Amino acid sequence: MGKKKVWFITGASKGLGLSLVHQLLNAGQYVAATSRNIGELKKAVNNDSGKFLPLAVNLAEEKSVENAIKTTITKFERIDVVINNAGYGIGGSIEELSDAETRSSFDVNVFGTLNVIRKASPYLRAQRAGHIINIASIAGIAGATGWAVYAAAKSAVIALSEVSAEDLKEFGIKVTVVAPGAFRTSFLTADSLILAANPIAEYEEVRATHGKYLKMDGQQIGDPEKAAAAMISLASMPNPPLHLLLGNDAFQRANNKLESLQKEFKDWRPITISTDFDN
Ligand SMILES: NC(=O)c1ccc[n+]([C@@H]2O[C@H](COP(=O)([O-])OP(=O)(O)OC[C@H]3O[C@@H](n4cnc5c(N)ncnc54)[C@H](OP(=O)(O)O)[C@@H]3O)[C@@H](O)[C@H]2O)c1
Repeated sequence: MGKKKVWFITGASKGLGLSLVHQLLNAGQYVAATSRNIGELKKAVNNDSGKFLPLAVNLAEEKSVENAIKTTITKFERIDVVINNAGYGIGGSIEELSDAETRSSFDVNVFGTLNVIRKASPYLRAQRAGHIINIASIAGIAGATGWAVYAAAKSAVIALSEVSAEDLKEFGIKVTVVAPGAFRTSFLTADSLILAANPIAEYEEVRATHGKYLKMDGQQIGDPEKAAAAMISLASMPNPPLHLLLGNDAFQRANNKLESLQKEFKDWRPITISTDFDN
């Protein structure tokens, strides 16, 4: 894995975040990890070494994130890799999901990520080094029926990653956005996934696709330990990718989307180019 690094990981009490923390600590790395529930996090990680810093953080609150980053710097003196992992799926058509349900999802999936980047950047800039790894989803590239808000949140994560990679390049800071397919974590369980509290019966296709996803729980093709290892490997690459798909399913969906986008752009080119001034 190379030299010892300091990692800051959000949403670490279970799933991909927990796999990352375990693997990194086993490799002797320094890990600051956040959770809404520090007791759960400590129990799940079960590591009393001075190399693990558990942090109770509300990612939607900028001050809470700022304090967590400061505490990490105070303890470990630097942050080399930030992994914005915390997130959850939210299902329902737009009219079924309330404003509050929708905003809560963006609070964690998007604003939490922005808060972490905003508060970590001054330190990474001063170091003239660092790597920000944002976990989006294949849903942010090729969204599925019934998951519009989740797709919107994760495509926001992809877009903000692409532009911040440009903005941070001059300071030697790298950005990678990871788009996993289906991984066998707690993602599809009632602990994590939110479905519209007030569904509308007429949305039969939305209900059918939710049913299909819920049945997938425990059967997902993706192994979270392998995903964690792949993400960890990014941090020692001299030229890591800006986009990384994880899983065969993600690879297929992303490539189908690319092909259909290319075809649509080409088919409609006459109208597209008809709007320019003639001179
Ligand atoms: N598994 C998949 O199929 C899949 C596919 C594509 C993308 N992803 C993305 O991968 C990331 C990790 O998910 P996972 O698969 O590991 O799922 P998970 O097992 O449910 O873990 C998600 C983590 O995110 C945090 N989290 C969940 N709901 C939250 C909420 N309402 N507020 C704040 N934090 C919350 C939790 O942190 P605490 O409980 O410790 O606070 C938890 O440790 C997420 O961003 C997810 O969107 C997963």
